Amino acid sequence: MHIIKNLADLSAQCRSWHNDRKSICLVPTMGYYHAGHEDLMAYGRTLADKLVVSLFVNPTQFGPAEDLASYPQDHERDARIAESHGCDVLFLPEAQDMYTQDHATWVEVPKMAKVLCGVSRPIHFRGVCTVVLKLFNLTQADFAVFGEKDWQQQAILKKMCEDLNVPVKILTRATVRENDGLALSSRNVYLTPEERRQAPAIYAGLCAARNLAAKGERNAKKIKDLVLQEWAENIPLGRLDYLTIVDPHSLESVEYLHNDALMACAIRLGKARLIDNILLPACGSQA
Ligand code: PAF
Repeated sequence: MHIIKNLADLSAQCRSWHNDRKSICLVPTMGYYHAGHEDLMAYGRTLADKLVVSLFVNPTQFGPAEDLASYPQDHERDARIAESHGCDVLFLPEAQDMYTQDHATWVEVPKMAKVLCGVSRPIHFRGVCTVVLKLFNLTQADFAVFGEKDWQQQAILKKMCEDLNVPVKILTRATVRENDGLALSSRNVYLTPEERRQAPAIYAGLCAARNLAAKGERNAKKIKDLVLQEWAENIPLGRLDYLTIVDPHSLESVEYLHNDALMACAIRLGKARLIDNILLPACGSQA
């Protein structure tokens, strides 16, 4: 595995692979790998001749009061993990190279970026779209893999690529969870033991919603009320950021479930802001 830090070197390497008719899969990450990242890499490895993993804690997707400075990092361990998954290039750029002093261009999908996480993180998806499009341009990747825990992110990135004719195929992977259901996240390290004890109730609540929908409940408000009640009982330390039911593709809010819908949430638990989601089946179908 080569570690590349320089943007021009990454472009040159990927151009030479393309000249040799090798396909490229990109797995963009912010590091501090857990089994969810490993699943993205292992899957990416199966898709193309060459696997590029980028590791960059992208400053432009963090708000001023967010955890950019304290975001967990361990590059040596991450490099070992990427290599163990057959990664060909680990791209580790510096922030001043990704964003020069005079950087002035932003990529936005405003309608989809102002809902769900966008309400409390207004600049987040602008930063994500901009950095991911830069990575797509640098690598000219044929495939890219993202996790479904960040459902809104992958939906927005697919829309960006569709609208801007970016020739990459975006694939997604199911959320990897702890045995007790908690979605894996690099931010889980922020949880105290008591917060960690309460955190699995987030997914348990979403599963209760899925069961209610599978039994035929169509009213989004009734489904949300059940979840809120379960969370109030089981996550007393939690502070709700949002709980909402939306169309899985457009992210538009849904009041009655005529088609498959997505229930998505964010909950603050101590220093951590945890997100999760679940697909609610359309009438009659089983999840
Ligand atoms: O999901 C992430 O880790 C980040 O948002 C991404 C896609 C690497 C962009 O910085």
